[in-house]
Amino acid sequence: MTQDNSETVSESDFRALCGRFATGVAVITARRHDGRQEGVTVNSFTSLSLKPPLVLFCLDYDAGTFPAFDKTRHFAVNILGVDQQGISDRFAGVGLEDRFDGVDLVTDRDETLPPLIAGCLGYLTCEVEARHPGGDHRIIVGRVQEIMFGEDADPLLYFGGYRKIAKN
Ligand SMILES: Cc1cc2nc3c(=O)[nH]c(=O)nc-3n(C[C@H](O)[C@H](O)[C@H](O)COP(=O)(O)O)c2cc1C
Repeated sequence: MTQDNSETVSESDFRALCGRFATGVAVITARRHDGRQEGVTVNSFTSLSLKPPLVLFCLDYDAGTFPAFDKTRHFAVNILGVDQQGISDRFAGVGLEDRFDGVDLVTDRDETLPPLIAGCLGYLTCEVEARHPGGDHRIIVGRVQEIMFGEDADPLLYFGGYRKIAKN
């Protein structure tokens, strides 16, 4: 049974506290049956299991991309580098006609597969293993099918806003 603590835990404090946990930033991509590409910026991506290799991300039920990610059998994780803040903003952007417009993709890939964004630090392609309820988000678990290393650069960090690794 889940307990509703919404009266004792203030939403703004909860947000502020969770914002003290630094993360990377990734764009999750997928391809719909009609071939249309979907992508959404997340910082809820994490590795879950080594054997078998599983990852997860959490998606808001209200996200415009939710219906697509709720149906897709495959998705890709594009791990963003420090120079890809514009990509992060684009795939978090509200009201864009096509988030992929002007975005360079990795070429030579089967057009039925989830698209990969060029210039990322690394990529995982996954088959959806499970979908779990998680409050106002859905937890989407993927079994990793393929991994690819990309640019050897610093990551884009999120910690109450975009950050980069400070060098001593
Ligand atoms: C750095 C960053 C991290 C985000 N992480 C998540 C996330 O983990 N899950 C999620 O559902 N939305 C996340 N969002 C919000 C989505 O990227 C997106 O803005 C939201 O789904 C609105 O898109 P829509 O116009 O398609 O509804 C994040 C946004 C940013 C900028």
